[in-house]
Amino acid sequence: MTQFNDRIEPKDFAKMPKEYQSLLTRLLTIQADCEIGGPHIYVDHWTLRAPTVDDQWRVAKIAMEEIDHCRKFLRMLGLLEIDRSDILTRPRSKREVDAFKEDMPHWADFAAFGMLIDKVGEYQLEEMTSSSYRPVEDYLPQILREEKGHISYGQQQLEKLVKSGDEGRAAAQAAIDKWYIVGLDMFGTSGSSRTERYIEWGLKRRTNEEARRQYIAEVDPQIEALGLVIPDKLQGRKYL
Ligand SMILES: [Fe+2]
Ligand SMILES: [Fe+2]
Repeated sequence: MTQFNDRIEPKDFAKMPKEYQSLLTRLLTIQADCEIGGPHIYVDHWTLRAPTVDDQWRVAKIAMEEIDHCRKFLRMLGLLEIDRSDILTRPRSKREVDAFKEDMPHWADFAAFGMLIDKVGEYQLEEMTSSSYRPVEDYLPQILREEKGHISYGQQQLEKLVKSGDEGRAAAQAAIDKWYIVGLDMFGTSGSSRTERYIEWGLKRRTNEEARRQYIAEVDPQIEALGLVIPDKLQGRKYL
């Protein structure tokens, strides 16, 4: 696969082929939608219900960071004269990615979401490292740093639940069972032709199946380290 190596500044966008314009717009819009999709699931419910005041502060801080990530992706679209602020009021059922249509009834869901879904988010964002759209490099390092914080907080909370006794362990396992499959699906279908176009235009680096494989290799040992069971990968399998 050949790869496009130019760096595109916003002023050059209009001169780019239609395919590049639409792929870049699509990528930035989906990412902005995912960034705000998380807070829409948990802010109302968990900000003031998290187990301790430290956890409540943490939920608020994570939400603040996600809102900031959304703001940065909308800003990167704004540099192209594209206004997608409509995603701020999009109903949950209309989110771009299925993970953000789900509910989080148990605290274990918030924790597993951090460990597994923010981890997928990190993978998606890593795709944009050395993006051909030049402004990405102004925003990406801080976003990636913050995602790592969300992931490790989720892991810590799951560990706490597992250690708290049978009830906590069962809740942690149920949450892992749910979000693991949701996470695998987020990588998209294997053999996607659109992903090849993204790679060719320097907007992504890995195919969906490569990224999913690496994710599994990273996350499975972490689930085992928590003393939990790795869910059956074929259970969801929308992606195969
Ligand atoms: Fe984020
Ligand atoms: Fe996050």
